[in-house]
Amino acid sequence: MKFLISAGPTKERIDPVRFISNHSSGKMGYALASAALKMGHEVILVSGPVNIIPPKEANTINIESAAEMADAMKSNFNDADITISCAAVADYRPVITHQSKMKKGDENLVLELERTEDILARLGKMKVENQLLVGFAAETNDLIANAKGKLERKNLDWIVANKIGEAGTGFAADQNEVTLISKNGKMIKLPLEDKSTLAEKIISQILT
Ligand code: CTP
Repeated sequence: MKFLISAGPTKERIDPVRFISNHSSGKMGYALASAALKMGHEVILVSGPVNIIPPKEANTINIESAAEMADAMKSNFNDADITISCAAVADYRPVITHQSKMKKGDENLVLELERTEDILARLGKMKVENQLLVGFAAETNDLIANAKGKLERKNLDWIVANKIGEAGTGFAADQNEVTLISKNGKMIKLPLEDKSTLAEKIISQILT
């Protein structure tokens, strides 16, 4: 099978030295890529800027912004059997990227931000029969209800619901605790595990 996996954060530039980003480490997406490769599948890994080494058998495409991630995901999507959107894509980017470093003044500074494309929702519209589309929902509140909403709105087959804001799980941690929810109403709670073990379980489950 051909897997297309996104991982890590995106970086939205304000000027040559400043950007907007988030705490995603890329560990979960990279663990999913490694698990898929270990099971004998092909992997295209679309990665935001992270500090970990991609599995060498993966075909890794390094991107920086949400717009670049959108291009890479959309252009590889039709060939993929299974697409997993694990990246923490910025929802907003600065309307203006300054070409030279912004200088400070005495007044408050207001940055105007515009929406980025919802890549996963777009892929949900492009999806044809026999393609599987999997998203992640990182939530601090109402985990299951919010995740189910995203599953439906974005036309997904599975969503991995991930409670964040608690020590030891989520973005930068080595372990994670998630609930898998399918469009057919299956709900599978996976206990706290290393991201690599969890990745194998997630992939085995979505392939059943
Ligand atoms: N995602 C995406 N493109 C975006 C934003 C998110 O593809 N511009 C994907 C993520 O990779 C993840 C899922 O969508 O699989 C997360 O859903 P989303 O509703 O975008 O989550 P949040 O950005 O956290 O949104 P909200 O503020 O509504 O919780």
